[in-house]
Amino acid sequence: MTKKRIGILTGGGDCPGLNAVIRGAVRTLIRDHDAEVIGIQFGFEGLLTNATVPLGGESIRGILPKGGTLLRTTNRGNPFEYPSNGTFVDRSQELVQNIQHLGIDGIIAIGGDGTLRIAQRLCDIGIPIVTVPKTIDNDLAATDYTFGFMTAVDVATEAVDRLDSTAESHERVMILEVMGRNAGWIALYSGIAGGADIILIPEIHYQSEAIIDSIRSRQQEGSQFDIIVVAEGAKRQGGEESYLDPAKRRLGGVAYQVAADIAEQIDLEIRVTVLGHVQRGGSPNAFDRILATRFGKAAADLVAGGQFGLMVSLRQDQIVWVPIADAVSRPKYVDPDGEVVKAARSVGISFGDG
Ligand code: F6P
Repeated sequence: MTKKRIGILTGGGDCPGLNAVIRGAVRTLIRDHDAEVIGIQFGFEGLLTNATVPLGGESIRGILPKGGTLLRTTNRGNPFEYPSNGTFVDRSQELVQNIQHLGIDGIIAIGGDGTLRIAQRLCDIGIPIVTVPKTIDNDLAATDYTFGFMTAVDVATEAVDRLDSTAESHERVMILEVMGRNAGWIALYSGIAGGADIILIPEIHYQSEAIIDSIRSRQQEGSQFDIIVVAEGAKRQGGEESYLDPAKRRLGGVAYQVAADIAEQIDLEIRVTVLGHVQRGGSPNAFDRILATRFGKAAADLVAGGQFGLMVSLRQDQIVWVPIADAVSRPKYVDPDGEVVKAARSVGISFGDG
């Protein structure tokens, strides 16, 4: 019997744990399913440019703790809307032909929202795909956690810890802006873990007066410093998100907005730190390495077993799978009345909402 030929690709932004998924999938495909594995570089674009590499024992050695992706990645290269001479063309049929030409029996696509949407459309035209969800934002309802999130939380928590000591020494308000797009998970988790005084998230619109009240009441209790963790997608009540690049909807800069909103009303110095891509780079933590390995193994089993159109997911510490279509249609936001927010409020954290 001829060996199955499975392709693996990573699409969208990078994320700690991508290499761990690749390793988990490649090892499982080779050891348990006697399959041949090829890496497709730069996401789906690699299927248009025939950028492929064989994957096996040597090529994946030592990648478990490494950040980034061995296969490279891109936010561009959607085959249905491929940029060409200032416009977009549909190159999906070309991609189908290249898959046939390469003799690929199934694809594991590791990616976020954009990659999952492309994968769903490719499944609809008959391409055999299994997906693995990736994002530091943790904003997919179809899984309890995405790998990369906990590492981002660790990095942001360390930043809070470091800012805390300098805030206290100088008696300053330190504002830390973290990523997360329109979900406040990284801000909420790192804010609680780091003992922040104020957490601002997109799901709870802030009022400047409430932030000022919170800072003043801490001052009255004798604390002349504050840590504010703000999610990049947070916004003032009745206001808009802050964009670095509005045309491309690249969020960023809300921390400066918060600083400007409160500066006149408080008598402490304010400093802003925008954490940025530090949250996405570097080695995955133990939780993410384990989750990524489990996801990689599960995706390998599905693709080798000919079960396509599915996304692997974590539910109550069990690896399960759901239709890709379900996953792309349901984002996951912080519940403003949920238990985690309530716990934060009980320990004195303000959400800037009164
Ligand atoms: O989705 C992951 C993420 O890191 C977001 O938190 C952030 O808004 C965005 O990607 C940044 O994208 P880019 O790397 O394209 O600047």
